[in-house]
Amino acid sequence: MEIKNICCIGAGYVGGPTMAVIAQKCPDINVTVVDINEKRISAWNHENVNNIPIYEPGLSDIVAEARGRNLFFSTDVDGAIDKAEMIFISVNTPTKTYGIGKGMAADLKWIELCARQIACIAKDDKIIIEKSTLPVRTAAALKDILYNTGNGVKYQILSNPEFLAEGTAVQDLLNPDRVLIGGDIDTEEGLEAVKALCNVYARWVPEKRILTTNVWSSELSKLTANAFLAQRVSSINAMSELCEKTGADVNEVAKALGMDSRIGSKFLKSSVGFGGSCFQKDILNLVYIAKSFGLDEVADYWEQVIIMNDHQKRRFADNIIKTLFNTVSGKKIAVLGWSFKKDTNDTRESAAIYVADHLLNEEAEIVVYDPKVEKDQVYSDLDYLNTRSKEANRKNLKVSNDPYDACKDAHAIAILTEWEEFVEYDWEKIYENMLKPAFVFDGRNLLDVKEMLRIGFVLKSIGKPQPIKVMADNTALAS
Ligand code: UDX
Ligand code: UDX
Ligand code: ADP
Repeated sequence: MEIKNICCIGAGYVGGPTMAVIAQKCPDINVTVVDINEKRISAWNHENVNNIPIYEPGLSDIVAEARGRNLFFSTDVDGAIDKAEMIFISVNTPTKTYGIGKGMAADLKWIELCARQIACIAKDDKIIIEKSTLPVRTAAALKDILYNTGNGVKYQILSNPEFLAEGTAVQDLLNPDRVLIGGDIDTEEGLEAVKALCNVYARWVPEKRILTTNVWSSELSKLTANAFLAQRVSSINAMSELCEKTGADVNEVAKALGMDSRIGSKFLKSSVGFGGSCFQKDILNLVYIAKSFGLDEVADYWEQVIIMNDHQKRRFADNIIKTLFNTVSGKKIAVLGWSFKKDTNDTRESAAIYVADHLLNEEAEIVVYDPKVEKDQVYSDLDYLNTRSKEANRKNLKVSNDPYDACKDAHAIAILTEWEEFVEYDWEKIYENMLKPAFVFDGRNLLDVKEMLRIGFVLKSIGKPQPIKVMADNTALAS
């Protein structure tokens, strides 16, 4: 089956970059990304490619190359569905905030809407691809909707989960560890659909990295991969607390264990806690699925990853309060970094939101600086928690676009995202302009400990003996 037109429903963090790369690599295929959010689509179409709605290193160059040639962004969802032989569904699937499964199950409302829309529009056979991370067996639900409301059109439903990480999306898409395609491989039509999608990726991904499985394995692999990754972060974060008590250094422990090839060295950075739209949502999802099958031990095992992560965020905020002589009331605290990791403007589930919220409860006066996150986003993240009035959030938390201003006259600085520019700051100058003792809480172990101590800061790092002092031989040790 030859693919000439691809449609992607959802122009978000997954759909946008993925389609841009497909369009760049397949100049003979027309790729149309559609979204109901007009503001988002017009931002993707902004004449200055640097104003596209998602910040990802390298993305604007690819959009500049392909946009208008074979990459299009549009709000005409129906038109794009009608024309395409292959439709990717890449809409949001947040955790349910109401009803059965509230706080755990994925909300499939948007997926269902897409399926109904496709069923209503399609006049010829289509390949439908689940790109969003979805609970196992969503493909079955999609099939039910498509066949029962449809008009005799035949559909093949594939699962093709996206493994890109934000901040490195373009690199991950250009050079993926693997591409996973799940389909109905027991039937000829299913195999043909799988092959059609393989052919798209094969333009730039070596064939041995393209895996084909049945639909359920593919869906479950995606959830499992995210659960394992999150578990590594919670595991090293659990050790960080023990390190702080015992005099071990979590970086040294991580290095030593990472050199065991069975464990591997990646994803062992202790932090203020993981964030992002996927980890928590996918684990909650896994827990919900396990529970619904009565697998309580399996559910409890994975839930612990989230409990540990919540604990890590909470204990970071508590440590600030405790260190500032048990009160932050009326004290200025500068928060450096609001996105959930560096090199992205995405703030979903960012640890910064929860740390700030906790400090606001303690009446702190917060000033936030982030190189890529807009002011409105910071407020909308806080308002979403519904902890206090919108006015109170705006009164007690300010957003600055100058890091030196943000830190001026502060009692403490909290580093919550590992933006590289933070390392380059003139920390002597920041020190001069702060209240003393000048506390820095480094939630990412980003700053050079010895240098910060030399300047005079009281530095609190994650997973290092506390407090840290420079010894005569210039090594940093617990006092
Ligand atoms: C372990 C550590 O591997 C080793 O580094 C340490 O020094 C001592 O403890 P050992 O207990 O000898 O070594 O064997 P190992 O290969 O780690 O297996 C331990 C158990 O885990 C075995 O019962 C093994 O069958 C089981 N296992 C291991 C699995 O069930 N699945 C696996 O993928 C790996
Ligand atoms: C993740 C998966 O990596 C990706 O494969 C999947 O497609 C989507 O979910 P993402 O959430 O974009 O990607 O970023 P990731 O790099 O995984 O980081 C997630 C969170 O964990 C961030 O808050 C990050 O700061 C934190 N993290 C990561 C750590 O605290 N320590 C680490 O060692 C690694
Ligand atoms: P992700 O990180 O999974 O890409 P995002 O929230 O960034 O998630 O993007 C999902 C996009 O899907 C949003 O821009 C949203 O407007 C869009 N969307 C949701 N439902 C529909 C729908 N039925 N039709 C078109 N677009 C939709």
